[in-house]
Amino acid sequence: MNIQFILNGDDIQMTVDPADRLADLLKRKSLADSVHVNCGLGSCGRCMVICNGRPANACMIPAFQLRNAEIITYEGLVQTPEFLLIEKACAQHGLELCQFCKPSVYLLLAVLLEQHNRPSGDDIRQLLSAVNCRCSASEDIFTVAAAVYHLKEGRFNGHAGK
Ligand code: FES
Ligand code: FES
Repeated sequence: MNIQFILNGDDIQMTVDPADRLADLLKRKSLADSVHVNCGLGSCGRCMVICNGRPANACMIPAFQLRNAEIITYEGLVQTPEFLLIEKACAQHGLELCQFCKPSVYLLLAVLLEQHNRPSGDDIRQLLSAVNCRCSASEDIFTVAAAVYHLKEGRFNGHAGK
């Protein structure tokens, strides 16, 4: 089966097995090292990508669903202004995430920035619950999510970076 999709702005065409999942394809072709496969069952959130604007676990996306899809991974996010806002909010609050959680949490925060003008605490908790962080950083992630909004508003008011 041949498929075509967009990965971080690049046109990808490949032949896949019908049983393949996106996580398999990314690993096999070394297309996105940030996508970590842990549980392989859609429950840990460590293989997070943005698929057509929505967060999704790459281990649960069948290859056939990728036809004409737009996928963004952490590697694509680092090239965006949103990445800088998230980095800044993390630095301000001393949030240090492990290598497994960081890509997924950053992608979720980017989706939050894109989808919500003023997310409620419940919006933030619901979205971020997709990543199974079990360390002491988990509460700080929520603080940073709120801080990202203050930075975003500052940016749109012309105060970014001050
Ligand atoms: S490896 Fe995909 S959700 Fe755990
Ligand atoms: S930051 Fe990875 S387990 Fe908490």
